Amino acid sequence: MALYNDKVMDHFMNPHNVGEIENADGKGVYGSPVCGDMMQVTISVDDKDVITDAKFKTFGCGSAIASSSMATDMIKGMTVEEALEVSNQKIVDELGGLPAIKIHCSVLAEHAIKNAIYDYAQKNGKEYAGLEGYDPNEERDHHDDCESCEG
Ligand code: FES
Repeated sequence: MALYNDKVMDHFMNPHNVGEIENADGKGVYGSPVCGDMMQVTISVDDKDVITDAKFKTFGCGSAIASSSMATDMIKGMTVEEALEVSNQKIVDELGGLPAIKIHCSVLAEHAIKNAIYDYAQKNGKEYAGLEGYDPNEERDHHDDCESCEG
């Protein structure tokens, strides 16, 4: 059986939203504690709190590229609050699944987006329920996020 489905392969081979938005309203970087890979997400947000654009740069594996391509597609057009609800599981579901050992790559996308929104919130003095208690610098144990790990 192929490790990756066609949708994952397509987002890996032809990723959407690659790059960096100039003068972005929010910018987030997240490094995976599991593998050391990094992802940067930049977002534009309009005055109604709608994310009008999102771009990513990933120094990571194919699953991280596919996850960030899908995740940035998903949040475009969402409000900030809606985007904060985009969990790594939702990204994996949209991709039609990832191999268990690659689930952490989608966590990278979730956190990079959250960090970009955190940056936007800080710059604009905004508060969102989805960011309550969120610390972008906290080194999270990936096992908190990864149901497929046994450790
Ligand atoms: Fe590092 Fe996938 S192995 S993000």
